[in-house]
Amino acid sequence: MKSIQMKFVLFIVVYIALILLVSCSNQLTSMTNKEVKYLIGVSQPNLIEPWRVVMNDEIKQYADTYSDLRVIFTDGGNDSKQQEEDLYKLMGFGIDILIVSLDDPILLTPTIAKIYSKIPVIVLGRGVTGYDYTLYIGTDNRLIGSKAAEYAKQLLGTEDNRIVEILGLQGSPTVEERSEGFREALLDRPDIAITQSIYADWQRDKSEDELTSSLETETDIDLIFAHNDAMALGASLALKNKGLSGVKIIGVDGVKGENGGLNLVKDGTLIGTFTSPTGGGEAIRYALDILNKEKGIPKKIILRSHQITGGNINVYEEMQSSAQRKPIRLITEAEPIKIGFAQVGVEGGWRLAHTNSVITAAKEEGIELLYENAFLQQDKQIEIIRKFIASKVDFIVFSPVVKTGWDEVLQEAKLAGIPVILSDREVKVSDDSLWTSYIGSDFVEEGRRSARWLIQEMKDVTEPVNIVELQGTKGSDPAVGRKQGFEEIINNELDYSIVQSLQGDFTIETGKQLMLEALANYGSDIDVVYSHNDDMALGAVEAIEQYGLKPGKDIKIISIDATRAALKALGIGKLSFVVECNPLLGPQLMKAVKDYMAGKELPMKIITSEGVFTQETAKRALATWEY
Ligand code: AHR
Repeated sequence: MKSIQMKFVLFIVVYIALILLVSCSNQLTSMTNKEVKYLIGVSQPNLIEPWRVVMNDEIKQYADTYSDLRVIFTDGGNDSKQQEEDLYKLMGFGIDILIVSLDDPILLTPTIAKIYSKIPVIVLGRGVTGYDYTLYIGTDNRLIGSKAAEYAKQLLGTEDNRIVEILGLQGSPTVEERSEGFREALLDRPDIAITQSIYADWQRDKSEDELTSSLETETDIDLIFAHNDAMALGASLALKNKGLSGVKIIGVDGVKGENGGLNLVKDGTLIGTFTSPTGGGEAIRYALDILNKEKGIPKKIILRSHQITGGNINVYEEMQSSAQRKPIRLITEAEPIKIGFAQVGVEGGWRLAHTNSVITAAKEEGIELLYENAFLQQDKQIEIIRKFIASKVDFIVFSPVVKTGWDEVLQEAKLAGIPVILSDREVKVSDDSLWTSYIGSDFVEEGRRSARWLIQEMKDVTEPVNIVELQGTKGSDPAVGRKQGFEEIINNELDYSIVQSLQGDFTIETGKQLMLEALANYGSDIDVVYSHNDDMALGAVEAIEQYGLKPGKDIKIISIDATRAALKALGIGKLSFVVECNPLLGPQLMKAVKDYMAGKELPMKIITSEGVFTQETAKRALATWEY
C-alpha cells in the first residue's frame, strides 16, 4: 500500500514537473520567436579596410536598437570564392534578408542574382550589373572622381604636373567610375599628366608595396589620388620610407577611427578626402521596410559625398554629431510647410500623373503647395523659381525642362537658404550643393533595359536590325539618359544600327510627325522603333497604321513610361515592350520634405524601383494600374 502511495506521489511530482517543463519550454520558444523576428545576414569582402569596419559598426549600432533583430556577419578574407561560400552559408542559416558588399562585383553578380530569386538583397557600396537585387545603397563614384580632380586642379601649379592614381580592384565598376570621373575632369588641363596607374585592390599594404617598387625608378610626383583612404595611407608610408615629402595625397572614404580618413586629414597625412558614407544605418532601416513590406521602396539610394580638408574638418565633425541636428523650424497648422512646385509642362499622360501625385500627396500631408507650370519653357521655369524665392517658401521643387542653365537661379535659392529638390529630372550644374536631393528614375538604366530586351527578342534574327529612335526634349535629362543607356548596349551588337534618330518633345503629335518622316525615308526597312516615351510611341502607332503597316508586328515598338494608354496598346499587340518610369513621386517627395524639416540629411538621390512589361504582364497589370 505504502509503495502504491509512493508511486502515486512520484507520478504526481513527475507530472507537475513535466507540465512545468512544457510550459517553460513553450514560453522559451515563444520568447525566442518574439525575440528574433528577422535574421539578417551581412557579408563583407574583407575587414582590413577601416571603411568596412565602420560599416559593420554602423549596421550593428542601428540593429541593436531593435530587440527582435539578429545580425550574422561574415568576412570574405579578400577572396571572392570565400565570399561566395559565406553567402551560401548565410542562406543555410535561414536569413530573411541579405546585406552584401561585394569583393569582385563581376564574379559575384550571378550568385547575387540567384540569392535574389529567393530573398531580398541590399547591395552596399559596390554595385552589381543588371536589375537583380532589391536595393543598392552607395555614392556617386563618377562624381567623387570628378570632385577629386577639381580639387587636384586647385592644388597644383600651372606647369608640368605629375599625378599617380592608385586604384581599387581592377574591373570593379566603382573603380572604373571613380577613375573615369577623375580623368574626364582633368581633360581641360594639358599641364597635368597621370603618369602611373597602380591597382592596389583597396589594400593599404599593397598600395605601399606597389608604390615603393615604382619609386625605385620614378620619384617625380606632385600629387597622388588614391581611390580610398587605406591605399592613400599606404602611399604615404611608401613616400616616407623613400624620404620624399611635399607630395599631396587625396583619398576617399573619410571615416572616423585611428586610421580613418578624418584622422589622416587632421594629422596632415592627407591633404583632403571625399567622404563615401558606408550606408550601414540606412541598410538596416530599409531592410526593415522591405521585410515589413512597406510600399515605395526605392531601387537605389545615392548618399552625398563631402569634401574634407584641414579647413573644414571641424565644421564637418560638428555637423555629423547628432546633437547638432535640430528641426529646421516649428511646423504648426497656421504655419505649415510651404513648397513651391515649378512643373515642367503638360506634355502627356505621364506628366499629368506626376502633377496629380505631387498635389494629392501634399494635401494628404497638410503641406501647402504653390503650383505653377512652365509649359516646356526654361525662361518661364526660372521666372517661377524666382517668384518662389521671393515668397520665401520652405522648399523649391521642380522638374527641369533641360539639364543645363540653372546655376544662377539655384545660387539665388541657396543664398536665400531655400533647399531645392529635383523631382523626376536632374540638372547639370558646376556645384552640386546647389540642390539638396533628386527623387526620380534612372534614365540610363531605362535605356539599357530597353536595349537588353531587344537583343533577347531578336536573338534568332540573322538579318541586320534597323532602328528608328524618337528622342524626347532636346537636352532634357530623360532624353540624354535614355539615349546613352540604349546606345551603350546596342553599340556592342554588330548587326544593329540606329538608322535615324529624330528630335521630339515627348508629345503624341511629334511622335506621329517624326515617325511619318522616318517612314518616308526608310519605309518597311524599319524593324524597330525605340521611343523615349509612351506619348511619342502612341503617335508612332498612328503613323505606322496610316502608312499601311501593322505596329507591333511589322515594326516592333519599345517605349518608356508605362501609362495605362500604353499598357492597353501593349496588351493588344500594338506596342512590343514597355519600360516603367514611375510618375507617382508625390509620397516620397513629401516624406523627404518632412525628414529634412525634422533635421535629417537627405540622400543625394532616391531612385525609384521600376518594372518592365510584355504583352502578357501588361494585361495583368492593367487591372490595378494607377496611371
Ligand atoms: O521626365 C520624365 C519624362 O517626362 C517622361 O518619360 C515623359 O513622358 C515626360 O514628359
